[in-house]
Amino acid sequence: MIKIAPSILSADFSKIGEEVRLLERSGADIIHCDVMDGVFVPNISFGMPVVGAVKKNTSLPLDVHLMIINPDRYIDAFIDAGASYITFHDVAVQDKSIIGILEKLKSKGIIGGIALNPDISLTHIERYIECLDMLLIMSVYAGFGGQKFIPESLKKIEEAAKLKNKYNKNLIIEVDGGINTENIRAVENSGADIAVAGSGVFGAKDKKDCIKTLRG
Ligand code: DX5
Ligand code: ZN
Repeated sequence: MIKIAPSILSADFSKIGEEVRLLERSGADIIHCDVMDGVFVPNISFGMPVVGAVKKNTSLPLDVHLMIINPDRYIDAFIDAGASYITFHDVAVQDKSIIGILEKLKSKGIIGGIALNPDISLTHIERYIECLDMLLIMSVYAGFGGQKFIPESLKKIEEAAKLKNKYNKNLIIEVDGGINTENIRAVENSGADIAVAGSGVFGAKDKKDCIKTLRG
């Protein structure tokens, strides 16, 4: 069954603790935290203190999506803040080995992932696929919540599922961006294991109903 990871990017930060507790009560599987630095992506969101505050309010695993330059510099800080999953955009890494970063995450018991924007093809990660725990397929361009799902992403998810089958059966395929109750079945049927949903969940009247429908 597909896991649902609501993104707190669309939450009301004036009451973040309450928002996170409500997500947990509403049946979320994972809490997705979108960290943006205003350099790798044009937007700035939040960093370690907010992730730490989220951690204090839930026992759900935190999935930290780093949209920042030189993500390797901040990995320890996000682990200390409570991350269980850490995903970074490998194109944002400047002077470190990607495999080295993935191995470091693994040695610390973190589920490590690489995120691919819509314009980056899967051939790009073929060389790391065997040491990847998770692949994050962006179905919008990283940077903002509330964008429209890019339909071509479905084909990419299917291709990723084929690579998973061939090279790394434990690979977790996560899909992020523009997912809602209308398109999630297509995302699931294409091979996604985890779906991130920000505005879809936070825009719903009833989060519990929404998450239940998303899960199917
Ligand atoms: C985009 C983020 C996504 C996004 C999800 O840069 O990585 O996690 O905020 O939000 P929605 O579901 O609103 O696209
Ligand atoms: Zn994200």
